[in-house]
Amino acid sequence: MCGIVGYVGPRDCTDVLVSALTKLEYRGYDSAGIAVFENGRIEVAKSKGRLTDLVAKMEREGKPQGHAGIGHTRWATHGEPSDVNSHPHSGRRVTIVHNGIIENYKALKQFLIDNERTEFLSDTDTEVVAQLLDFYYDGNPVKAIRRVLHEVRGSFALGIVFADRPETVYAVRCESPLIVGQGVGEAFIASDVPAIIKYTKDYYLLEYGEIAVLKNGSVTFCDLHGRMVEKELKTADWDEDSAEKGGYPHFMIKEIHEQPTAVKTTITPRIENGMPDLSECGITPETLKKVNNVFIVACGTAMHAGMVGKYIIEKYARVSVTVDIASEFRYRDPLIGEGDLVIIISQSGETADSKAVLNLVKGTAAKTLAIVNVKGSSIAREADMVIYTHAGPEIAVASTKAYMVQLAVIYLLAFEMAYAKGKIDEGKCQRLTAELMRIPDVIKETIEKTVDQCQYISTKLITADSLLYIGRGLDYALSMEGSLKLKEISYIHSESYAAGELKHGTISLVEEGMPVIAVATQNRLLEKTVSNIKEVKARGAMTIVICDEEADIDPDAADYLIRIPKRYEVLMPMVATVPMQLLAYYTSVNKGNDVDKPRNLAKSVTVE
Ligand code: F6R
Repeated sequence: MCGIVGYVGPRDCTDVLVSALTKLEYRGYDSAGIAVFENGRIEVAKSKGRLTDLVAKMEREGKPQGHAGIGHTRWATHGEPSDVNSHPHSGRRVTIVHNGIIENYKALKQFLIDNERTEFLSDTDTEVVAQLLDFYYDGNPVKAIRRVLHEVRGSFALGIVFADRPETVYAVRCESPLIVGQGVGEAFIASDVPAIIKYTKDYYLLEYGEIAVLKNGSVTFCDLHGRMVEKELKTADWDEDSAEKGGYPHFMIKEIHEQPTAVKTTITPRIENGMPDLSECGITPETLKKVNNVFIVACGTAMHAGMVGKYIIEKYARVSVTVDIASEFRYRDPLIGEGDLVIIISQSGETADSKAVLNLVKGTAAKTLAIVNVKGSSIAREADMVIYTHAGPEIAVASTKAYMVQLAVIYLLAFEMAYAKGKIDEGKCQRLTAELMRIPDVIKETIEKTVDQCQYISTKLITADSLLYIGRGLDYALSMEGSLKLKEISYIHSESYAAGELKHGTISLVEEGMPVIAVATQNRLLEKTVSNIKEVKARGAMTIVICDEEADIDPDAADYLIRIPKRYEVLMPMVATVPMQLLAYYTSVNKGNDVDKPRNLAKSVTVE
């Protein structure tokens, strides 16, 4: 939710801020703005709309010229997207950009009004912080920031400039992620590493309550109490290319094509002598042996990966698995304790509800395991154990490769747990692991085989008002993700349903021409699923069936048949996901939507 950047150094500051914001636009894109020191004065340029609207505005009206400043790309929380609600926001001597949310901004605003600070221009919580900083500012910026940190509640990160401290940028982190990049004679702040990778790979990760001061191209840090802090300089293992489209028209399609490599990179280091080995993640057979119940808690796509996990872990490790939406779990007083393993899945590692679940569980005897893509993110650092997925940066808002690697990790975990508990023998564990190792090539083959057909079928979906995804067992778990993918980027209403449950109500929605996408990869359930497909077909549905190349499907049941390679049934979710991603992608493209930045969404959801 929102991206912030800052720069101090010899380059043209506006160019650097705009370039960095381009890489953060996935975090929010309803308005953008910058504040730059020009001849000792803070010049602000901001605009409702995309970053390109801001650039066009600066071309018309002149762009701030200078060597230090801050920038922002917004996903509105308080106040509609508008020029005036766009960041930066200012008090009399202070200008800030903000990512996150200020929970007690109303009380703080009242406090300021009671103290004769009434000049509020916007509806944002951010402006309240700018005014509060100004209220406490007595010429010592760090002191004012520390004072404000003691009063403000919420999860946020700020980039700050003070009018009487030219060429200096201040930054502070309270929960919301913030990194400080260090180049040669220049320094940066950013919500995420890809924003600055073009300029430097070296960065510091700000911790909760830490304040950074960027001046003369270098950085100093202090904590909430004003004590100086020495920080470890990290080096990103991503290169500039991984944060670029690399010749593809959209990040989403690039990321779909990156899946074979992402899976290979994620699983290879965790396989020893043909067996899963998660010891580098702090997970040993002894730990897994002691697990009595598993809870998988996550949001959106990550939660859908957990749905697949439930089937796999229960099937092989014979441990009961409960899957929950993080925003529900945290408020339902869950029964967890000794012997329970709570797995939190998150691409970003910063999702507010998932983070809250982690904090809740930490107060119990249950163990926490994070499956996270972004290194050093809050969830990764706070969980008892962490398995990093190595998908590289996922830029498209609609998650594809992150989901795929989450599945891969869940398989490894399930197989290792099953073996540790004596539920499968070594031979079986090796066979399952060997099949998993073949999956990257199968994904590649599936993309090649289905891409044209999915592109064609998507032209039949664009006029639909609504559609259904159906499946049984693992195919049902998978169809939830297919449905979400399609609706979030095509804006076509879609629901996923357990195929056998349709006739208990939902089938009344089916009418002439309604697309129904059926996933039928589980042989044991094939006949049953085919019956359900025929039931909707008999009521006028246009049926699209995703099944393996050997499945015996009555030609009358399917208007379109998408055949995918046949592998172990249990691994089919990683194969069948591919055509679902492609269908969603091309439907969005054919509708002329902004595929990578669908309306009303943002990549990292750091608000409740
Ligand atoms: C959908 C999508 C979201 C995320 C969800 C959780 O394509 O990406 O549903 O899966 O917001 O985000 P993370 O995984 O970062 O916790």
